[in-house]
Amino acid sequence: MSGGIEPTLDWARAADEADELRSFREQFHIPPRAHRDDHRSIYLVGNSLGCMPRGVDAAIAQELDDWRMLGVDAHLDGRHPWYSYHEPLRAPGARLVGALPREVVFMNSLTVNLHLMMVSSYRPTAQRHKIVIEDSAFPSDRYAVASQIAFHGFDPESSLVRLRPREGERVLRDADIVEFLRTQGGDVALVLLPGVNYLNGQVFDMAAITKVAREAGCATGWDLAHAAGNIPLKLHDWGPDFACWCSYKYLNGGPGAIAGCFVHERHLGDAGLPRFAGWWGNDPETRFEMREEFVPVASADAWQLSNPPIFSMTPLRVSLELFDRATMDALRAKSLLLGEFARAVLDDRLGDRVEVITPREVERRGCQLSVLVGNRAREVHGSLGAMGIVTDFRAPDVIRAAPVPLYNTFADVYGFAEGLERALSAGD
Ligand SMILES: Cc1ncc(COP(=O)(O)O)c(C=O)c1O
Repeated sequence: MSGGIEPTLDWARAADEADELRSFREQFHIPPRAHRDDHRSIYLVGNSLGCMPRGVDAAIAQELDDWRMLGVDAHLDGRHPWYSYHEPLRAPGARLVGALPREVVFMNSLTVNLHLMMVSSYRPTAQRHKIVIEDSAFPSDRYAVASQIAFHGFDPESSLVRLRPREGERVLRDADIVEFLRTQGGDVALVLLPGVNYLNGQVFDMAAITKVAREAGCATGWDLAHAAGNIPLKLHDWGPDFACWCSYKYLNGGPGAIAGCFVHERHLGDAGLPRFAGWWGNDPETRFEMREEFVPVASADAWQLSNPPIFSMTPLRVSLELFDRATMDALRAKSLLLGEFARAVLDDRLGDRVEVITPREVERRGCQLSVLVGNRAREVHGSLGAMGIVTDFRAPDVIRAAPVPLYNTFADVYGFAEGLERALSAGD
């Protein structure tokens, strides 16, 4: 798109016409309004559960057919052999997160992977035992790190550091994290932060934070639940020890989908690392020799425990093909424009009646817009739902909406702003 943004439906329609990614929308089932089949909803919760790719039905049917017709032989002779099913996912996954293919594996679910990664990278000592998280970290991360601290015999009360935004601010400043690590990183064993905050949509400066954390001698992990498939990532170059993400949000892998995991190259093949091991992490060359000792394969696969759950991986395989075709660069360009347009329409129609708390700067935002709508937020969210506009409410006053470039349109964004205006006006 060229030319300045205008906050109008005409502009939105023209932008949709000109959108080079527009055919991807037809690759998805957009849930219908009120679960009826005659009108698509304005589905803005790809940050929560991505829409189902149309290719999934046939792909699952194929696996069922292989099971029906080949039984155990499908492990090697299936159309997508089950034995190595996770392997072709590695390269497209690596392209999404900016990694080497061997640094990426899809396995388990997000919180499980966080634990597996912490077993290897959180090695507390009396001098260095703290874990740094955000105060508003997703609860599962908080529970995971607190339980790791306790597991190692330390006290979460004193070993868990929760960084808070400054008084009166909603967003934790990158500079404040950097400053903390520079001045107080000496007793920090692990920094575990999200690439994108789930509540306010803020994108953290992962490059700068990883750099200073490493200089301070801390292990570094990123929870990329809200970042993978949303924003461009360069994990290999940034150099964290690990990163974990789920695949049911921007990656459209389906409910509870198999999660992704990155382990930096410098740790691969290190047989001395503590880890919770399983046979699927053993070098495939010797896996079926059923040897006494565990020989980790020299890739992120070494953290796999079990053989891959095929039906859980299939939707992700289909979705990753779409990402490869669309490319992250093109998706990011459209995503930024969708966000810019959303702000323009919200400004125009609602002025200071709502406030977008997601930072405005390009490098500090992804698809999600977190909108403060005041003390009637729950009711406003319900009204939007009744209009067929699917958003997400976080108590007490935030509505989250995430126009995603694979299947949302500029007209969706316009419809959201218009619906929000109607919902807010209804109570005036
Ligand atoms: C930031 C973040 N971390 C962790 C989780 C937990 O994910 P899972 O249930 O897949 O372990 C979620 C789930 O939405 C999340 O958003």
